[in-house]
Amino acid sequence: MPMLNVSAFDAYYGKSGKLISLKEVDSTNTYAVKHELPPFTCVVAEKQTAGRGRSGRQWHSNTDQNLYFSIVIDGLDASMLLPLNIFAGYLLSDTLKDIVDAKVKWPNDMVVNGKKLAGILMETTFSGGTLEKVVLGIGLNVNCESFDDEIKDIATSLYIETGQKFEREKILASFVLNLENSFEEFRSKRIEVEKLWSTYSAYLDKKISIHKDGVKTIYTEKGIDTTGCLLALDESGSLQTIITGDIGYDFCR
Ligand code: BTN
Repeated sequence: MPMLNVSAFDAYYGKSGKLISLKEVDSTNTYAVKHELPPFTCVVAEKQTAGRGRSGRQWHSNTDQNLYFSIVIDGLDASMLLPLNIFAGYLLSDTLKDIVDAKVKWPNDMVVNGKKLAGILMETTFSGGTLEKVVLGIGLNVNCESFDDEIKDIATSLYIETGQKFEREKILASFVLNLENSFEEFRSKRIEVEKLWSTYSAYLDKKISIHKDGVKTIYTEKGIDTTGCLLALDESGSLQTIITGDIGYDFCR
């Protein structure tokens, strides 16, 4: 199995030293959490043997056609964690805008035509109650042509959507640059995630189902608040603030 080409990444990124390219790792998130790495270092692997998704799920990471990567972020206040979760989804869809019209399913799944293109898992380390490091882990389906039976009805890739193959190093460098260039504006709250949401949400004003602790509830999505929580009308018409949970794929077609 080859590894992602560091020189090609560096050429798109404009300088060297930001990418750690691994052939195989348990999880790029675990690697980035465990190692001391400078801000915006990106750890990418061709294969993850224990790739993790949100809510304790597994992330299928067994093909060298996709991107599995984690970026180290520091200097963030803990109050900005949920907004960062949202902002990362916005940035990814912005990075891909010339390739595909990918929208965000709260909090940060990338969806195209009702199918999942990418997922984001943010992990943190704290020291004495202070947020130390954030690891932004992204799995993006790029060039894979098909999926295992288990997920084939809900997953898609850039190749499946466009019929074209893409240089993964270029996409990765664009995302890291996009993040680095906008991070200070985001950190100092000059970017208001709730305002971006109306442009990037896949389901604004649409019916959604929220799955939480094995219970499914139907709502109409109305936006997010300044902290990144979802605002949605329940079936009796009252506005609820949803802090955790997953939007299901029930109405996403
Ligand atoms: C989700 O949608 O459930 C989030 C998926 C996140 C997967 C990525 S792949 C790179 C990084 N390493 C991991 O173990 N998980 C994230």
